[in-house]
Amino acid sequence: MELIIVKNYEEMSEKTFKIIKNVIKDKENPVISMTTGGTPRGLFKKLANAFNNDLDIEKVKFLNLDEYIGEKNAPYTVYRYMNENLFDLVSKKPLSWDYIHGDEKNIEKEIERYKNVLDNTKRDIQVLGLGVNGHIGANEPGTAFDSTIFLANHDQSTIESTANEYNIDISDAPNQMVTMGFKEILEADKVLLMVSGSKKAEAVKNVLDGPISTACPASYLRDKDNVIMIIDEDAASLLEK
Ligand code: F6R
Repeated sequence: MELIIVKNYEEMSEKTFKIIKNVIKDKENPVISMTTGGTPRGLFKKLANAFNNDLDIEKVKFLNLDEYIGEKNAPYTVYRYMNENLFDLVSKKPLSWDYIHGDEKNIEKEIERYKNVLDNTKRDIQVLGLGVNGHIGANEPGTAFDSTIFLANHDQSTIESTANEYNIDISDAPNQMVTMGFKEILEADKVLLMVSGSKKAEAVKNVLDGPISTACPASYLRDKDNVIMIIDEDAASLLEK
């Protein structure tokens, strides 16, 4: 893992944006797999802005890390987030966008379908955020490190974070999500783990200074060469060195 510590949220967003922008410029048909939530909002703004200027969205294939189980246009869905934070803001369309359908009745069949997409689509970039409990995607504490795309149950802290992020009542927040497993996450050429703010400092300390353990899922990324962790000073504030 490469660790990059930057000053603040803006610099974390800018640094991550530049890495993605360079991959999009260099590749003929780059495949970018996004995450959602509070952390990447600044990154999405920069991407939307660049796609409306000199960066070519028409050659980009988009995928997603995960999707909540629920109605497609519920306030918290990845589907809605991607539209509101990217596609609705850009005048041109991407080459393709294949997302997990969290409203599918037969969710096992949908998991099989998306697994097939992932098996046949090498990702150049996988963007990740970090949960306060160390989760990535919905690989919550206790998830085996050989996980492949699956239907995950959220920890209570994750349900609370979702309610908070999307300004909804806790009783309306989803408690399940289809998520890539560690296997698919790490198949990307570059995995970008973004972390900002002092509320994530404990999790960052566990990722970097604690044991590599399923108790802190993201600790598994620590010895992986294709992972770049981009964090701001507040998130890094509890690190020993
Ligand atoms: C969301 C996702 C989650 C978030 C994580 C951090 O698609 O996969 O793992 O990245 O919960 O969320 P925020 O950025 O809202 O703190």
